[in-house]
Amino acid sequence: MKSLFICFVLFSGIVSGQDFPTLFPVDPFDPYNDAARLFDAIDGWGTDEDKIISVLCYRTASQRDIITTTYNNQHGSLADDLKSDLTGTFKTLTVMLTHGMIKFLSLELHDTMARAGTDEKSLTEIIMSRSNQELSEIRTFFIDYYGHSLASEIEADTSGAYQTLLIQMAEGLRDESTFVNMTAVEKDVVDLYEGGPAIEGTNEDIYIDVFSLRNYVHVNEVAILFEETYGISLTTVVTTEFEGRDMGNALVSILQYSRDKARYFASRFHESIAGAGTADQDLMRLTISRCETDLGNIKIAYQNIYAASLSSDVSDDTSGSYRSALLALID
Ligand SMILES: *[C@@H]1O[C@H](CO)[C@@H](O)[C@H](O)[C@H]1NC(C)=O
Repeated sequence: MKSLFICFVLFSGIVSGQDFPTLFPVDPFDPYNDAARLFDAIDGWGTDEDKIISVLCYRTASQRDIITTTYNNQHGSLADDLKSDLTGTFKTLTVMLTHGMIKFLSLELHDTMARAGTDEKSLTEIIMSRSNQELSEIRTFFIDYYGHSLASEIEADTSGAYQTLLIQMAEGLRDESTFVNMTAVEKDVVDLYEGGPAIEGTNEDIYIDVFSLRNYVHVNEVAILFEETYGISLTTVVTTEFEGRDMGNALVSILQYSRDKARYFASRFHESIAGAGTADQDLMRLTISRCETDLGNIKIAYQNIYAASLSSDVSDDTSGSYRSALLALID
């Protein structure tokens, strides 16, 4: 009876969109003690990597931000000390963990665009999954830190309808409610059809507006009603309307995210570890950016899709302190 009840709570929680993190704030929180432990781990001969993990991988981003400030005030720069003491992916991960969430996401966005050949999937992922408030803070961070706007970087690195879509999404004008107005859904379905399959060419503005301004529950309802009405999936439509282009991929990502956020991220995790080699930067970003939000849901989705546990797949693909640190965040 009791387990049935727990099952029901868990199930209805997922259905109603409740998020399950894997990383929680430590309480009581003592940033002075944490900064001292880090200094102790780094200072002198050799480095105590387990001790570094015991602090950085068990504190939330906002707590790590305070620890970093405390450390920097007392000892110089935590990021620089980690950089000079550590190597490889463990170094990269721990330096990432010294940043607060907004700075971390902004550096990731910048890096995604700075890399030779922009990584559009990651770019779409980061912008699509952030709240209007976070996007506003990211835009401010870009001006303060890089001296230019996020939009100007997007403009320099992307083109066409994809560029317009991203810039409009980055402005953070999306409806964030979960309210669905079926009359408005019906109107969007007809507009998308009339601006796509029904005509030669594509009315890109309609697609940009629906996918960047509507709330995600609404977008999902549009996808369902579109297929019911026209007998063709909206995923197929956007793929053919924007064939071979970043725009089509971005709209498919938005549809996946609207349908099931946890499944979307599970597939992103899988892409980062599947096949030969590991896309470490993606793996680190996905872990850090989701562990305080919905990594619990993502792990369940991953298990359902791939019949394997995310933790063991990550474990198989990594080693040493890097592996221990990732698993500390994931488990
Ligand atoms: C629902 O959408 C329709 C069409 O866009 C609009 O005219 C109507 O005012 C909306 N209703 C509500 C309650 O928002």
